[in-house]
Amino acid sequence: MKIGFGITGAGHLLLESVELLESLMTKHDVTVLLSAAGEEVLKMYGLYERIARITGGYYNELVKEKDQKFSFPITGRFSLGKYDAFIVSPTTSNTIGKIVNGIADTLITNAVAQSGKGQIKTYIVPVDIEYGDVDTVLPSKLELGLCQKCDICEAASSCPGDAITPGIEIDLLKCEGCGACAVSCPFHAISAGKVITIHMRDIDIENTNKLHQFIGVEVVEHPSKLIERFEF
Ligand SMILES: Cc1cc2nc3c(=O)[nH]c(=O)nc-3n(C[C@H](O)[C@H](O)[C@H](O)COP(=O)(O)O)c2cc1C
Repeated sequence: MKIGFGITGAGHLLLESVELLESLMTKHDVTVLLSAAGEEVLKMYGLYERIARITGGYYNELVKEKDQKFSFPITGRFSLGKYDAFIVSPTTSNTIGKIVNGIADTLITNAVAQSGKGQIKTYIVPVDIEYGDVDTVLPSKLELGLCQKCDICEAASSCPGDAITPGIEIDLLKCEGCGACAVSCPFHAISAGKVITIHMRDIDIENTNKLHQFIGVEVVEHPSKLIERFEF
């Protein structure tokens, strides 16, 4: 099968989505589409290289929003029905909000719109799916309560991206999620993969609920549910 796979800028369900993608790529041709935020957030969680490694070649491309300018020429493949399925996982509240309001001004929202025109079945894995609280994982974080403000910061010295301002913060746009800082700091002042609880906003859940009414779109609760679906 030919599958389009969109990744937006959500940390929640991101690792699980990369695992789904890796599984799909063993059996299918998969074109990966990254929203601009998706590319940044993948790097923050140290997952970008895993995707760059497995993509390449016709219908197995890695398509970045920043290379698609304003008209997203790649999405012509979707309006022409060239794919058997389009999966978006994880899908941010931002992207869901745009989709349910008919907005198509990003690579992923445009590919969803063109999939509708090309009658390609679209599977969307939202990060905001149920009312209430959800546990999610953070990228690397400088824990100021533990930082000893050393004269020479071992964590900063170990960072290949020069992302750490000692005693202040990690610049996540420079961080590539390699985890070297967490290993180097003798005071364990860098956390990686810390779990926090966030509260879902009503408007985001309401938007997700509206997706159920879209013909040709299936809302999927978790990336792992799609592994069996495409196991052929
Ligand atoms: C580390 C990090 C994690 C994020 N995780 C989420 C998330 O789980 N869900 C979400 O809706 N937005 C999340 N965001 C915010 C989105 O990246 C942001 O709203 C972005 O504009 C979404 O653009 P996109 O929908 O085009 O990918 C996160 C941002 C950062 C920096």
